[in-house]
Amino acid sequence: VNSRRVFNGLIAATLFATLLEVITGFILLPFYSVKDPYKSSVALEASPVLHFLQTFHHWLSAALIVLLGIFVLFGLWSAAYRMSSKKLWGGSIILLVLILLLQLTGHLLPWDQHAVRTAAIETSIAQKAPVVGAMQADLLRGGKAVGPETLSIWFWAHVAILPLFWLLLTVLLAKKIRPGGFSKKALVAGGAAYFVFSLGCAIGMAVQLGPGASTVDYGAFDAKPEWYVLPLHSLLDIFQNIGPNFAFVGTMVIPAVVLLLVILAPWMDLKREAGKPSIYGMVLSLVIFLGSCILIQKSASNVAVPNGPNLFAKAAAGGSTVVTIDPKLAELGQKLFTEQGCDSCHTVDGSGGNGGPDLKGEVAKHPDRNWQVQHLTKPTAVVPGSTMPSFANVGDSKLKALAEYVLSLK
Ligand code: HEC
Repeated sequence: VNSRRVFNGLIAATLFATLLEVITGFILLPFYSVKDPYKSSVALEASPVLHFLQTFHHWLSAALIVLLGIFVLFGLWSAAYRMSSKKLWGGSIILLVLILLLQLTGHLLPWDQHAVRTAAIETSIAQKAPVVGAMQADLLRGGKAVGPETLSIWFWAHVAILPLFWLLLTVLLAKKIRPGGFSKKALVAGGAAYFVFSLGCAIGMAVQLGPGASTVDYGAFDAKPEWYVLPLHSLLDIFQNIGPNFAFVGTMVIPAVVLLLVILAPWMDLKREAGKPSIYGMVLSLVIFLGSCILIQKSASNVAVPNGPNLFAKAAAGGSTVVTIDPKLAELGQKLFTEQGCDSCHTVDGSGGNGGPDLKGEVAKHPDRNWQVQHLTKPTAVVPGSTMPSFANVGDSKLKALAEYVLSLK
């Protein structure tokens, strides 16, 4: 097998795949309104044809992430990047990043609770970077919290800015593939597998709208993440357990280093013998593949089901819960609240950070003290997709005081 021709065939299949995405997207566009996102999505879902197209659009893009992932791993494993052009290699990696961004921005468009809450979660991850974190998150959201501004930014990114980059890149990449320079078998097999897989998913798993988002959801962080961000969530979890300030190492430094190592493969690989596999590429592809499997597996129980109505672990319970507060314990908790830096993420009485929800009225949401202590000990155990760091190292007795204080907030 000539791996360069297979490699080029696979990229041709990818370009075909992105074309399908653009076509279905274009058909859907006139039926969507940024001004009335949820209402237009409800109307869209009411039409069987449009709903199917929307579902297909969703699965085509999910499958595209998988296809590009396979393509990149194959390129590394077979060292095809050596024989292909460097531009083709770098360009296809950037294509993968673009597709991920398209997927992320597209997920917000239906404007249901899950869409808005996952956007709140993902932008709060961006916020965890030192120094530039807050600025970066504010830019992504168009403000201090997710809201209509965010939708407007993500909509234009999704339908104009990212596709434009995609188009430019596609033209450049297509030019790099000489006619006859690729394996037609790889193109047809890759393209057909992709098409059948997406179609099968679209028929079997229709994407369904959840309840519409309200302003409450702008600051709610309680939603299962989509599967493609699971590695990021696991990395976040691992590094946050080392220390709350290390979160960015997992969510930014490691992904950036991996991306760089992949893009630079043609330069890093000093022994350039065409046709021979490379240790560098093989090790890197194995590490990425196994690493992703382990990381996804680690948080797999947290993954959102596309068509499940029960996207949230808990219903926001209201009502009048009476919890008797121990004032001494709550007072100690209040001190700990600042000592432990809770206020860097949470507002109480209007002051504090915006990396997490406002804690006013928390007693109505989770009146159970055990829940509170459990949440502080390991947030992801009770709130799927939580990006709050664990405070297990603070010790049980202090956590009880913190819980008491949180429950005392009216
Ligand atoms: C790095 C940011 C960050 C820090 C620091 C932080 N939290 Fe959180 N917190 C979050 C996020 C994000 C959520 C939403 C996800 C969740 O519910 O776990 C949250 C949720 C909560 C909730 C549940 C709120 C709800 O809507 O039900 C409570 C209670 C809470 N935090 C208390 C605390 C306490 C007490 C501390 C300090 C010991 C603390 N947090 C420190 C980010 C943070």
